[in-house]
Amino acid sequence: MNSFTDKNVVITGGSSGLGRALALQLLEKGAKVAIVARNPQPLKALQQEYPALLTFQADVSDKQAIFPLAAAIQSQLGDVDLLINAASSLGPTPLRYLVDTECEDLEAVLQTNLIGPFRLTKALLPGMLLKQAGQAKLVVNISSDAAISAYPRWGSYSVSKAALDHLSRIFDAELQAQGVRFLAIDPGDMETPLHRAAVPDANPADLRDPADSARALLALIEAQDFASHTGSVRRSL
Ligand SMILES: NC(=O)c1ccc[n+]([C@@H]2O[C@H](COP(=O)([O-])OP(=O)(O)OC[C@H]3O[C@@H](n4cnc5c(N)ncnc54)[C@H](OP(=O)(O)O)[C@@H]3O)[C@@H](O)[C@H]2O)c1
Repeated sequence: MNSFTDKNVVITGGSSGLGRALALQLLEKGAKVAIVARNPQPLKALQQEYPALLTFQADVSDKQAIFPLAAAIQSQLGDVDLLINAASSLGPTPLRYLVDTECEDLEAVLQTNLIGPFRLTKALLPGMLLKQAGQAKLVVNISSDAAISAYPRWGSYSVSKAALDHLSRIFDAELQAQGVRFLAIDPGDMETPLHRAAVPDANPADLRDPADSARALLALIEAQDFASHTGSVRRSL
């Protein structure tokens, strides 16, 4: 995807942190951008500041919300070129050992971090497949180093991200012949509300600005020839 100009982009979790940084940088690059989040206030504030930005209030973990959301996105934005699933849940904080984790809490994390991206991908895929042959279509699932490393207390989140990585690999293997590619991206440790909730005593100076991770991700996408790429689906920034 060598240019974002006029590309239709959807970003879940687009009202904060990495998702917000991606949305603003993509707008600057000439993309048509729709963001999704639950709380109306940050969405409203962003929409007022950036009138070209489309905002959708929805909870990606809510089964009933996904198909109406996909239909609203498609009618206002059009068929999607790039879907970035960045919305994510840690589960209850302070983070707990797995043995102290309620089944319902694990289930809720999986609904947001795994089933939500799966449902939204399925709902937007028919439109992506209809887009002109030869144009790259891409789904980026935001992962984490916790998908690989067994950090104590990060159980539910880690399990969800490991599953999201493999979901991305299998979707990529199944859909690349039809021109839809997948990436699972570890954006690095960033100074955001999610990181503050997980590690309240972290030194902000040790963390990346999410705008830097966003820039690195967009550069990676721009440099990639998705029609021929045979490299790893999972990447770290
Ligand atoms: N920060 C890090 O150090 C780090 C490291 C590795 C990976 N990551 C990954 O990077 C991604 C972005 O994280 P971040 O740190 O930028 O997070 P963040 O600043 O806390 O932003 C999270 C965004 O997701 C939205 N969101 C959360 N749950 C949602 C739901 N159920 N439905 C719809 N939207 C929802 C939030 O808005 P509402 O609350 O209004 O819904 C917000 O816009 C995540 O996938 C995270 O796992 C982060």
